Amino acid sequence: MRQILHISDVHFGPPHRPEASDGVVTLVERRRPDLVVISGDLTQRARPEQFREARAFVDRLAVPSLTVPGNHDVPMYRFWERLLTPFGAFRRHFATDLEPTYEDDEMLVVGVNTAFNWTIKDGRVTASGLRRLQRLLERGADSRARIVVAHHQLVPPPRFDSQRVLRGAHRMVDLLADAGVELVLSGHLHQSWIGTTEAYYPSGRRPVLLLHSGTSTSSRGRGSERGRNTCNWIRLDDGEIEISNFGWDAEGDRFLERSRHRFPRRDRDSYALEAY
Ligand SMILES: [Fe+2]
Ligand SMILES: [Fe+2]
Repeated sequence: MRQILHISDVHFGPPHRPEASDGVVTLVERRRPDLVVISGDLTQRARPEQFREARAFVDRLAVPSLTVPGNHDVPMYRFWERLLTPFGAFRRHFATDLEPTYEDDEMLVVGVNTAFNWTIKDGRVTASGLRRLQRLLERGADSRARIVVAHHQLVPPPRFDSQRVLRGAHRMVDLLADAGVELVLSGHLHQSWIGTTEAYYPSGRRPVLLLHSGTSTSSRGRGSERGRNTCNWIRLDDGEIEISNFGWDAEGDRFLERSRHRFPRRDRDSYALEAY
């Protein structure tokens, strides 16, 4: 059995809420996940001090973590830096690896960087990025759970204001299905969402489960999560993926479980969305 805490869009800078990041640290101390995944947008404006604050936050987490960049981790207004070294500040002040992996004997988690230098808000995956992903996922064909982390969405959630997906999404979805990936962890929407690739990419391939975390520690929540903070708790065991969505309870000063969802593991033909 493995457990992952999935947080996203922590947005260090003006919109950051320190009480919520303290709440994440407490949640990790209390429940001790095997891994914390941070699916991008560490900062608001990619400033060195914002990356340093993000680094200090991650260093407070009592367990291993895996982080990919988001579009906000590329400088928007510093033209030359954006053109020539879009991830220079991220690398200098947060981490050198933009696409980290984590593996143990039960899971293989692969990070994909979908932000790039001319991003305003959209994402992309390149042909070489897909080749790298395929190589990593094929390494050690075994029964470990395969999980991919990418900031931008592969499917436009219903009723969400933007119906755009990351460039290269279709090819990436086919690759993920063929490589036996069971779960993709994303952010960017600032709103929690669970879905599958099935309705949007009716290729006949095995559907892949998609999970978005809202903004876990900033004031930038959208839609039904306007002004709110959320994160996901994932439990993987032999037969099931169980996902709990947590919301920040300001009065109790802690994250509380809001809903729980269960999905059969990959030996089944399709996922049944079963929430209660
Ligand atoms: Fe964001
Ligand atoms: Fe984003």
